[in-house]
Amino acid sequence: MTVDIRKVGVIGAGQMGSGIAQVCAIAGYDVALNDLSEERINAGLATISGGLQRQVSKGHLTEQDRQEAEGRIKPAPSFEALGDCDLVIEAATENEAVKRKIFVDLCPALRPDAIIGTNTSSISVTRLAAATDRPERFIGIHFMNPVPVMQLVEIIRGIATEDPTFKATQAFVARLGKTATLAEDFPAFIVNRILLPMINEAIYTLYEGVGSVESIDTAMRLGANHPMGPLQLADFIGLDTCLAIMQVLHDGLADSKYRPCPLLVKYVEAGWLGRKTRRGFYDYRGEKPTPTR
Ligand SMILES: NC(=O)c1ccc[n+]([C@@H]2O[C@H](COP(=O)([O-])OP(=O)(O)OC[C@H]3O[C@@H](n4cnc5c(N)ncnc54)[C@H](O)[C@@H]3O)[C@@H](O)[C@H]2O)c1
Repeated sequence: MTVDIRKVGVIGAGQMGSGIAQVCAIAGYDVALNDLSEERINAGLATISGGLQRQVSKGHLTEQDRQEAEGRIKPAPSFEALGDCDLVIEAATENEAVKRKIFVDLCPALRPDAIIGTNTSSISVTRLAAATDRPERFIGIHFMNPVPVMQLVEIIRGIATEDPTFKATQAFVARLGKTATLAEDFPAFIVNRILLPMINEAIYTLYEGVGSVESIDTAMRLGANHPMGPLQLADFIGLDTCLAIMQVLHDGLADSKYRPCPLLVKYVEAGWLGRKTRRGFYDYRGEKPTPTR
């Protein structure tokens, strides 16, 4: 079965889901956006609206394109509203139980030929596929944050992913104007296998008192030429997501070098999840971000 992708469903209207919906709509796809409540869907739609406006003010999009893109995105308060989608991308919280439950509930609502993609940062695509009725039409489509800005999409085939699913996904990523890279289905794939241990080590460096938040970030920006410091980046990703990825690496590869830093655990337990909760390694509630340690 080959699928001509025209309509894309997105599950999860958070940082990633709203970005994915935005780039799909700009590329001309009809989009249905789902989350746990109408309130969260509306918050996602507001983020997309702001993002599209910013693209117009930067000259990357015409006002007419903005209006057309915004008009292509519709709220989907239930999985039934995703029933006519050709591709559904799951971008909900990085928690395997949450994602598995979504797939179990989602499958009966979909057409048999619809493809399901997961935007998971780290969880086994093969294992998630096994929670669906269509492992051959299931694939990892890992966007980077912020989606409208970042060029890369990692594509991850599960053990059962068939060629037409892979080819349709490659064509979809190309139409979004992004560059795809293929990663094998190992914990955290390529980008996060390399990036997250670096961020976790930066948090250990803070935990052990080797440097302050500012000195660690300045050191890596100016000393390693990174565009942003690792703690600033952790706040940007979301500390809950960083912790979840480290846990997947630690459990999946059974190597103590992936042990999540206890300070990361403490920040997550405090609900200090980074920019999305306005406090993490920096406090974003004032005029400019101030370090919390
Ligand atoms: N943050 C990043 O930098 C980044 C980058 C690439 C991939 N990802 C992955 O993208 C996914 C989402 O991350 P995020 O940063 O957007 O998180 P987020 O916390 O901003 O958003 C997650 C959204 O999922 C929704 N959700 C939770 N359970 C749901 C359910 N059962 N049904 C529908 N919606 C549900 C939440 O209400 C929330 O709006 C995760 O798998 C994450 O690992 C994140």
